[in-house]
Amino acid sequence: MTDQTKRGYHQQRSSTPPPPTGCPVHTSWNPLNADYLEDPYEIASALRDEHGVFYAEQLGYLVVTEMAEIERIFSDHETFASTNVQDPVFPLAPEAQAVLAADDFDPVAVMSNRPEPDHGKIRVHTRQGFSNKRIKTLEPYIRRRSRELIDAMVAAGPPTEFVDALAFPLPGETVFRFIGFPEGDDETLKHWCGDRKAFSWGKPSAAQQTEIAEQMLAYWRYCRTFTASKKENRGDDFASELIDAHEANPKDLSYQEVESVVYGLSFAGHEAVTSLICNSLQCLLPRRDVWAEICADPSLIPNAVEEVLRFNSSQISWRRVTTTDTTVGQYDVPAGTSIFMNFASANRQGDIWDEPNTFDIHRSNANRHISFGKGVHYCLGAKFAKIETQLVIEALAEKLPSLRIVEGIEPDYFPNITFRGPTELHVTWDTDQNY
Ligand code: HEM
Repeated sequence: MTDQTKRGYHQQRSSTPPPPTGCPVHTSWNPLNADYLEDPYEIASALRDEHGVFYAEQLGYLVVTEMAEIERIFSDHETFASTNVQDPVFPLAPEAQAVLAADDFDPVAVMSNRPEPDHGKIRVHTRQGFSNKRIKTLEPYIRRRSRELIDAMVAAGPPTEFVDALAFPLPGETVFRFIGFPEGDDETLKHWCGDRKAFSWGKPSAAQQTEIAEQMLAYWRYCRTFTASKKENRGDDFASELIDAHEANPKDLSYQEVESVVYGLSFAGHEAVTSLICNSLQCLLPRRDVWAEICADPSLIPNAVEEVLRFNSSQISWRRVTTTDTTVGQYDVPAGTSIFMNFASANRQGDIWDEPNTFDIHRSNANRHISFGKGVHYCLGAKFAKIETQLVIEALAEKLPSLRIVEGIEPDYFPNITFRGPTELHVTWDTDQNY
C-alpha cells in the first residue's frame, strides 16, 4: 500500500485556486440556493446552455455541466482524483475539528476517495460482497420488510409520512443486515448515520458540525468494536467476508481498511436509496396513468427506476480534484482545482434524450444517465439500490394501488450540494382498496 493509507477519511480543502484565465465566473449561483434546492433542473439546464464549464465563486469549484466532459473526467482517474469526494465542502469549525482529532478517530480513505492502485486492490475484495448471488439472498429480506412496513402503514391508516414509515428505515436496515450489524442496534445506527450528508455535503452551523462529529466518532468506535467481534465470530455477511479477505491477503487489504469500509458503507448504502424511493413516488404517483400502467404490469418497474435516476435522481452531482495541470473544457487549470460535476444538467441533455424534460418510463435509453458515476469508482451498490427501489415499488403497486401524494404540502429538501430527496413525503390511499 502507498502512503495514501495515512490519508484520513474526511480532509479539509487546503487551498482554492483562482478561476482559470478566461473562464466565466458565476458570482451568485450556488447549489445551496433555495430555488435550486427546490427545483434544480431548469436552472441547471440554463447554466449548461450558457457555459459548458464555469467557475462558481460561492463554492470555489469549477462546474462542469455537459455529459461528454463529465464522462471524460470520470474516465481519467489519474488526472482527476476522487480524493475530495467525502471532504466537507466548507471549512470545519475548530470545535468539530477538535472532536475528530481524537486519537482513535482514524478511518482511512478506502473506496470512493482512495486513489489507484490501492483502490483497485481493495475494490476486488469488496466486489465479491456485491455479487449478484449475495444481492439475491437479500431479496427475500427486502420483500418481507417492505410488506411489514406497508402493513404497519395500513394498520395506522392514511395519511402517512412515508419517509418515516418506510423510505428511511428500509434501506438502513437492509444495508445493516448486509454488513452484518445486529438488528438490536438499528435505531442507534440510524441516528449516527443520519447527518453525514450535512457534514460532507452541506453547510452546517458550528454547533451542528460538532454534534455530527460526535456522532461520527461514536459510529467509528462502534464499527471498530463490531469488526473486532466479527473477527472472533464470523457470520454469513459482508463484514465477515472482508475479514476473510484481509487474512488471506493482508498486504492488499489491511485490518484498518476493513474497519473503514464498514464505516463508509452504511452511509453510501442508505441515504441515496431513501431518496431514490421517494423520488420514484414523486414521479409515478401524480401521473395516474403511468402509476396504473405500473400496477397492471410490474415488469415496467426496472426501466421506470432507470428513468427516475435520469429525471429525478437522488444524487445530482459528484466531485473530483485535479492532480496535475490540465484542461477542463477549453480552460487551462492548475493542479488542486476542485471540480463539481453537475449530473442535474447532464441527465437532461436534449442531444442524448428526446424531450429530456419529460418523464417517460418507456425510454429505450433511460439508463444512459450518469447518476452512478463512471469508471473505476462506478457505484458498487448500483444494482443493490435499483433492486431495493424496484421491490418497494412492486410491493406498493400490489398492496396500495390507490396510493397518492397528499396535495398542498410543498416538499422540503435538505440543504446540501449532492443528495436530493424530500425530507418528508405525505401519502394517502383509499381504505377500502388496500389489498
Ligand atoms: C440511488 C442510490 C445510489 C446512488 C445514486 C449512488 C451513486 C454513487 C456515485 C455517483 C458514486 C461515485 C462514482 C464515481 O466516482 O464514479 C458511488 C460510489 C459508491 N457507491 Fe453508490 N450510489 C447509490 C447507492 C449505493 C448503495 C446502496 C451502496 C452500497 C450498499 C453504494 C455503495 C457505493 C460505494 C462503495 C461506492 C464507491 C465505489 C468505489 O469507489 O469503488 N451506493 N455511488
